[in-house]
Amino acid sequence: MDKLLIAGGIPLSGEVAISGAKNAALPLLCAALLTKEPVTFTNVPQLNDIGTMLKLLAQMGVKVTRETSKVGAGDTVTLDASGLNNAVAPYEMVKTMRASILVLGPLLARAGEARVSLPGGCAIGARPVDQHIKGLTAMGAEISVEHGYVHARATRLKGARLFTDMVTVTGTENLMMAACLAQGETVIENAAREPEVVDLANCLVAMGARISGAGGDVIRIQGVDALHGATHRIMPDRIETGTYLCAAAATGGEVRLTGASATSLDAVLDKLMDTGCEIVAERDAIRLKAPPRLTAVSIRTAPYPAFPTDMQAQFMAINAVAEGTAVMRETIFENRFMHAVELIRLGADIKIDGNTAFVTGRPKLDGATVMATDLRASASLVIAGLVAQGETLIERIYHLDRGYEGLEKKLAALGADIRRVK
Ligand code: EPZ
Repeated sequence: MDKLLIAGGIPLSGEVAISGAKNAALPLLCAALLTKEPVTFTNVPQLNDIGTMLKLLAQMGVKVTRETSKVGAGDTVTLDASGLNNAVAPYEMVKTMRASILVLGPLLARAGEARVSLPGGCAIGARPVDQHIKGLTAMGAEISVEHGYVHARATRLKGARLFTDMVTVTGTENLMMAACLAQGETVIENAAREPEVVDLANCLVAMGARISGAGGDVIRIQGVDALHGATHRIMPDRIETGTYLCAAAATGGEVRLTGASATSLDAVLDKLMDTGCEIVAERDAIRLKAPPRLTAVSIRTAPYPAFPTDMQAQFMAINAVAEGTAVMRETIFENRFMHAVELIRLGADIKIDGNTAFVTGRPKLDGATVMATDLRASASLVIAGLVAQGETLIERIYHLDRGYEGLEKKLAALGADIRRVK
């Protein structure tokens, strides 16, 4: 298994390009199931999760063509689901990527049936899909959960008024996709407002769907009989952007991220300015200049537009070396502090009490061998390794390869001493 070896203490400087958003691309690829016509996506990131999703769609009979480019320029992927012949998402594939649940709504809407393995939990929490099932059932689907699979059937879904018990990003996306081909109007209340939901809605509308309100907490969809092909550019990855900004902040550096959109990161940029960083948002780039010593910032994760849970681990690495004590509350997932014990191995002063972490900044961290446990925890360890004195060896970095395109290449381009070792 690959590992990352980092020699810390170098302030990052220079410019890198931000890739297409993993969490926009995953639902968008599933949207191609909704039509018999080809759908083309540009700015597709080269990530393991994308590869897994394309394999999952291909075994359903979807024709996949992919033109790869050099890292960072984005691939072009065309999906043709006219030959859809197998509405099954098998356990072997779903267990490696829970976002596979996003085929459920489109398969039901297009093929009238679906057999999708339950994703199962993951390191950060149980992550049930009960809201996805509740919404599709309200739209007339007959759904049973047996032997670890969701079995769903519907001659034609009917529009309904849906209310999710909590804000769920992929729940909103699954229901919105299913509603596009339902009979009548669907209203999704308490909808997720994430920019990735808006990117999906924009693509669905380009395919002929009738959607209004995406980005707000009430989304209205008028069902139509069929959707047609379209071409859609994947939005920039706001979490990748935030991760590199945190790495530059923690190492006391100065960077420019191109192809980045500041509008989807207000809460993160605000917090980075509170640490003392100077931020300049250009039309499609973001510049950050770190202060000599960061000031600790307290955060509370919540659904968009509040501070994103996917940036919590990265900010814990910042607070580990900032001046002062930060109180960090994780309200979305029940077990998203696994990075804390690994940061403590690097010398951080962190106390966990339930879903709250108290982080007291230290002037420096000391390199050590640490273990990645999930995607964003791994990013947090990379940031800490870039700051720590001496060498840090990060194990199980397959987690990183799921969600960060060319991570060590991009960091090396910013001056980091980082390399992948076997
Ligand atoms: C999406 O996951 C993202 N993944 C996650 O990013 C992100 O952390 C999360 O949204 C929150 O922003 C993708 O978009 C592919 P949720 P999702 O449904 O949709 C509970 C990353 O690092 N819930 O919004 O699975 C759930 O347990 C990943 O890129 C139910 O109880 O998250 C959680 O506590 C990690 N029942 C909360 O709601 C349901 O049916 C929010 O989950 C659905 C969700």
